Amino acid sequence: MSILFEQESRTFYLNTAHTSYQIQADCRGYVHHLYYGRQVGTSHMEYMHYYSDCGFSGNPYELMDQKDFSLDNVCQEYPGCDAGDYRVSCLSLQNPDGSFGVEFRYVSHEIIHGTYRLPGLPAAYDDGGRAESLILCLEDPVTGLALKLLYGVFEEEDMITRSAIVENHTKGTVVLHKALSACLDIPFGEWDLIHFPGRHCMERQAQRQKLPDGVLTVGSRRGSSSHHHNPFVILAAPETSEDYGECLGAMLVYSGSYRIDIERTQMRAVRMVLGIQDEQFQWELQKGEQFVMPEVLFGFSSDGLTRLSHQYADFIREHICRGKYKKARRPILINNWEATYFDFDSGRLLDIAKQASELGMEMLVLDDGWFGRRDGEKDGLGDWYVNEKKLAGGLAPLIREIHGMGMKFGIWVEPEMVNEASDLYQKHPDWALTVPGRPPAMGRCQLVLDLGRREVRDYLYQVLSDLLRNYPIDYVKWDMNRNMTDMYSRALPAHRQGEVHVRYMLGVYDLLERLTGSFPEVLFEGCSGGGGRFDCGMLYYSPQIWCSDDTDAIERLKIQYGTSFGYPVSAVGSHVSASPNHQTGRCTSLATRATVAMSGTFGYELDLTTLDELEKQEIKGQIARFKEYAPLIQEGDYYRLTNAVEDRYFTAWQHGAKDGTEALLNVVVLAPQANPTPIHVRLKGLREDACYQELIFGKTYSGAALMHGGFTLPIMSGDYPSLTYHFKIMQER
Ligand code: DGJ
Repeated sequence: MSILFEQESRTFYLNTAHTSYQIQADCRGYVHHLYYGRQVGTSHMEYMHYYSDCGFSGNPYELMDQKDFSLDNVCQEYPGCDAGDYRVSCLSLQNPDGSFGVEFRYVSHEIIHGTYRLPGLPAAYDDGGRAESLILCLEDPVTGLALKLLYGVFEEEDMITRSAIVENHTKGTVVLHKALSACLDIPFGEWDLIHFPGRHCMERQAQRQKLPDGVLTVGSRRGSSSHHHNPFVILAAPETSEDYGECLGAMLVYSGSYRIDIERTQMRAVRMVLGIQDEQFQWELQKGEQFVMPEVLFGFSSDGLTRLSHQYADFIREHICRGKYKKARRPILINNWEATYFDFDSGRLLDIAKQASELGMEMLVLDDGWFGRRDGEKDGLGDWYVNEKKLAGGLAPLIREIHGMGMKFGIWVEPEMVNEASDLYQKHPDWALTVPGRPPAMGRCQLVLDLGRREVRDYLYQVLSDLLRNYPIDYVKWDMNRNMTDMYSRALPAHRQGEVHVRYMLGVYDLLERLTGSFPEVLFEGCSGGGGRFDCGMLYYSPQIWCSDDTDAIERLKIQYGTSFGYPVSAVGSHVSASPNHQTGRCTSLATRATVAMSGTFGYELDLTTLDELEKQEIKGQIARFKEYAPLIQEGDYYRLTNAVEDRYFTAWQHGAKDGTEALLNVVVLAPQANPTPIHVRLKGLREDACYQELIFGKTYSGAALMHGGFTLPIMSGDYPSLTYHFKIMQER
């Protein structure tokens, strides 16, 4: 039993293998957060909390004289609004009478086997039936507004999931101005915030800073989780490192606009609230209706950041990603984007495919430009029928030939968008999000379709399912190349326009659910100008996401490093591209490009017809090696051996088998030195008593030696040289 309820003290103990989460409903019904941290079993943690009159903090009416009890100073599970708690809140709403006040009290609870369900939203699932869930039912005693707090406990995985549902049982319409998924109050301690800011072509640049007093916010107002901040943060004790110390993560399972606020309060406590972005948000909740909030994944580690990352990676691989490919090795692909951009025809594609198949690649992905009148960015989005000028005879003969070469066939789509220069826009201009009378802001010359509308989704489902039904397509790259503006739906009345960005996201999920459900054999890869929507919401539908439009191996080191804090390697779309690189102009060796791309789904994205013999032989070797390493890379643990953002000399990382029997060490030198200091790393996750053979260079070492003494690499010179070492257990001593 991972959830225990102690009737007398009305305490809920949520225990995982190494963590505890505790909640108490006090005698007045206030729902306190008592503890989240290292396992404490059923030790009651109420003693730890300290209440004092901290001045200018409201007291509940019935406790007028008890000034040391203020909602402003109590650790809570879900703070309300306008009731004396001045810290960042989860909720802001107006009751039917126009007042803002809401204060929830415990009414009842339920403990169930399995996971709770969040209608319309992606959420962690549990096939093994081992998870347990707690549903706390709260109510505002004055208005009757109801709140369900949902907790999923994944014991072995050391993860707690949370969500909330507000239900309008008041006498009229409630208007939500802010409705966040969860609050986590931490009563004590110094904390650093680790977060993942970035930009297009430079996503998830890990950053660590001491929490300042006041409120620190990360989030997105862009209609997608964005390149700019990932919906994942870590709070780490100042002394916490990769292998030591306490840290806790909070990750949203949501792909739209969001916010995460972290407040250092007047009493030196920390409050984190997170959920849907409240800017340009307003939701009318009619009597009897409910509003479901996206899920949050909480993880805690008392053994450092690496352990926390492994928890998230394993959890996402097992409980978020779905379908046939969730654990399977993905086909090694050749994508034509950086090879041809918009300039291709069937002949050119077949030349690339032929070369790819000879080299051992397993799938050709036909990227942007195969449809409508699409010869550049300005035209064609929305017209999902074949451009026969480029593909004479259509898709069928092309796919037949590619399948004939023994390769799979994948295709690119960007269903959420429309160009004004398209048949779809000419027919349905009102399907785009634009404000009547106002010229819309453009992004990549395109507009966003109103996926909040059922008829728009039905249309897209129809054309996309026709495409997948009529042609034997094995893979879909689902792209999204602009952020939202002009969030105005022609289908909603003026007072409901604040619902647009959330309805849009629910619409995307609905469409993806229907498509992935109808075509379970098809592998979906998410994309948004690279990693602009790299989140668990999308990973629920596509087990991999194109990590960045920046394919430069050296920049990728930092991007993949940041991504590794929260996400599994199996989710990271990564390709070997041309040198000089198209984004940075940097030259790197084919070997280094492959070393970096192999820490992901692995594929190629360059014109294979220009390769010389030597390069072809090298690529054949890379493909053979990747096939050998893939289980270790995709199912094993990822270890960051250096800080890829701060360490200027070299970057090192390791893939380690979970049972310690095998490891792959990768090192890329960033700045070779004339009189070099040694490149030395310590391996991790091996068995101390075992003997390992390094398979590439043939020497043997003990696990203890590799982990405690470490491993010194030979001097490497030139531009960005790299080396890989493959260690395999020989025998236990
Ligand atoms: C952005 C993607 O990230 C690229 O890989 C490519 O598919 C282009 N879009 C095509 O427009």
